[in-house]
Amino acid sequence: MSSAYGIVAKSVRYLRHRLTSGNQHSIHSPQVFALYNALFDKPGSEIQSIYRLHRELKQSDEIIRYADPGRQGKSTSISVKSLARNVAKSERLGTVLHNLVHHLKPKSILELGSSLGLSALYQHTGWSQASFLAVEGAPELAEKAQQHVQIQSVPIELQCGLFDDVLPALLERQASFDYIYLDGHHQLEPSRRYYEQLKQLAVDGTVIVLDDIHWSAGMEQFWNDVIADTDATFTIDLFEFGIVILRSGAPKQHFSLRL
Ligand SMILES: C[S@@+](CC[C@H](N)C(=O)[O-])C[C@H]1O[C@@H](n2cnc3c(N)ncnc32)[C@H](O)[C@@H]1O
Repeated sequence: MSSAYGIVAKSVRYLRHRLTSGNQHSIHSPQVFALYNALFDKPGSEIQSIYRLHRELKQSDEIIRYADPGRQGKSTSISVKSLARNVAKSERLGTVLHNLVHHLKPKSILELGSSLGLSALYQHTGWSQASFLAVEGAPELAEKAQQHVQIQSVPIELQCGLFDDVLPALLERQASFDYIYLDGHHQLEPSRRYYEQLKQLAVDGTVIVLDDIHWSAGMEQFWNDVIADTDATFTIDLFEFGIVILRSGAPKQHFSLRL
C-alpha cells in the first residue's frame, strides 16, 4: 500500500475528509464536544520523557529482523529509526491519544499492536492509574517494547502473541476493558473479526480507537461497517483514527471531525 498509487489514493481520501469534516461548532452532543476539545489540550509534563525516548529512537540505526504478523509472516528487516519515524504514531498523534486517555480516565486499557511500545507509553502516561495490557505479535518487537517500558519504569504488561490467540484467551477468562486501541493487521476481514471480539470484551461506555481507518479501500469498508453497526453508539472519524463509543440507551450519531 506504500506504492505511488496507494499514496495518491490516501491523499484523495484525506482531501475528501478535509472538505467534509467539521470542528467543535458542528458537534451537538455534549459528551463528544468535551471529548473532541480535550484532544487539543496541553499535555501534562509526564509526556516529556516519552517525547525524549521517541526522539532517541528516531536516531537509532539498529536493525530489527522479524516476521511481520500483519503481512502473513513476511520477513522484514527495518531500522529502529524507521519504525519510530514511519510506523509509530507521530508525537502529535501520540499526544492526541495521550489527551484522549487523560480525558476518559479509563480503568483498564488494552492495546493491540505495540511495535516499539511508543503508543502504549503515550497512552499510559495519559492516565497511569489504569491497568494496561499491550499486545505485540512479533517477538523481536515485543522485546524492544518491553525494554522501553522498563526504561520508563511503568507498569504496562506486555504480551507477545497474535491477536487471533490473545483475544479468545481474554474472552475465555472474561476480561473486560473500558478503553481499547487497535493498531495492527489493517485488513478488512481480520479487522472485522477483531472488532467483533473487542465488543465482547467491552463494558457499557467502552471507547474503542481504531487506527488507520482510511489506510486502504479495505480499511474504509471496515470503518463504514463500524459506522453502520447498531452497537456503535457514537462514531467519530478523525481521519487518522476512528473512535467508537459503545453506550446503551443513547441515540446513534456519527461525526466527522478535523484533527
Ligand atoms: C502500526 S504497528 C503499531 C505501532 C504502535 N501502535 C505505535 O504507534 O507505536 C502495528 C503492529 O502490530 C503488529 N501486528 C500486526 N498484526 C498482528 C497480529 N495479527 N497479531 C499480533 N500483532 C500484530 C505488528 O507486528 C506491528 O508491530
